[in-house]
Amino acid sequence: MISRGIIFGALLSVAPALAQSIAEKVEVCAGCHGQDGKPKDKTIPVIWGQQAGYIYIQLRDYKRGDRKNETMQPIVSSFEKDDMRAIAEYFAKKPWPNLGQPRSPKHVAQRALSAEHSVGCTGCHLEQFQGDGTTPRLAGQSQEYLAKTIADFRTRARGNNPGMTDLMRATSPDDLAALAEYLAGL
Ligand code: HEC
Ligand code: HEC
Repeated sequence: MISRGIIFGALLSVAPALAQSIAEKVEVCAGCHGQDGKPKDKTIPVIWGQQAGYIYIQLRDYKRGDRKNETMQPIVSSFEKDDMRAIAEYFAKKPWPNLGQPRSPKHVAQRALSAEHSVGCTGCHLEQFQGDGTTPRLAGQSQEYLAKTIADFRTRARGNNPGMTDLMRATSPDDLAALAEYLAGL
C-alpha cells in the first residue's frame, strides 16, 4: 500500500516542476517577442502586458489551427492548456514596452476617431484601447503588425474571430490604415 506521505510528497513536487518548465518554455519567446518586450521585427506583436485572457485564446487558437501561422503553430503544438494559461499570465504581468512610435498627425487621428465612432471599437476594446479579458490591448501595438493582422482578418487569413472579420470588412481600407497608425501612437 502506498503511504499518504508518498502521495503528498509526489503532489508537492508537481508545483516546482511546473514552474520550472514554464520558465523554460518562455525562453524561446524572447528570441522574437524580445528580451525586453520589444519585438525583434515590426511584424511581430508585443505580448508583454497584453491581456492574459487574450494571450491564452491566441495560443489555444494557434494550437487548434483556428489561427494559422507557420511560425507560431509549431511553437505551441506541445503546450497543454495549463501551460498556455500559465504562459499567458506570465506575459500579462510584464510591463507594456514603449516602442517609441510617433503620435499620429492630426488629420490621421481625426480620420481614425471618426471611424472609431461609427464602428464603436472602444465598446469592446475599452477606453484608450487598453482591452480587458479576452479583448486585446491595441494602444502602442506595432503599427506594421496591426496593419498586417487587420488585413489578415479582412482576407480571412486570420479566421479565428469571424466577428472581427465582419467589422474589418465593413470598414474602408483608408480608415483602417488611419486606425493602425493612430493606435500605434497611443
Ligand atoms: C520565430 C519567432 C517567434 C517565436 C520564437 C515566438 N513567436 Fe509568437 N509570434 C510571432 C509572430 C511572427 C507572430 C504573428 C503571427 C500572426 O500574424 O498570426 C506571433 C504572434 C504571437 C501571439 C499573438 C499576439 C497577438 O497580438 O495576437 C502570441 C500570444 C504569441 N505570439 C506568443 C508567443 C509565445 C508565448 C512564444 C514562446 C512560447 C512565442 N510567441 C514565440 C513570432 C514568434
Ligand atoms: C464587438 C466587440 C469588438 C469591436 C466593436 C471591435 N473589436 Fe477588435 N477585437 C475584438 C476581440 C474579441 C478581439 C480578439 C479576437 C481574437 O480572439 O482573435 C479583437 C481583435 C482585434 C485586433 C487584433 C489585435 C491583435 O493583437 O492581434 C485588432 C487590430 C482589432 N481588434 C481592431 C479593432 C478596431 C480597429 C475596431 C474598430 C474599427 C475593433 N477592433 C472593434 C472585439 C471587438
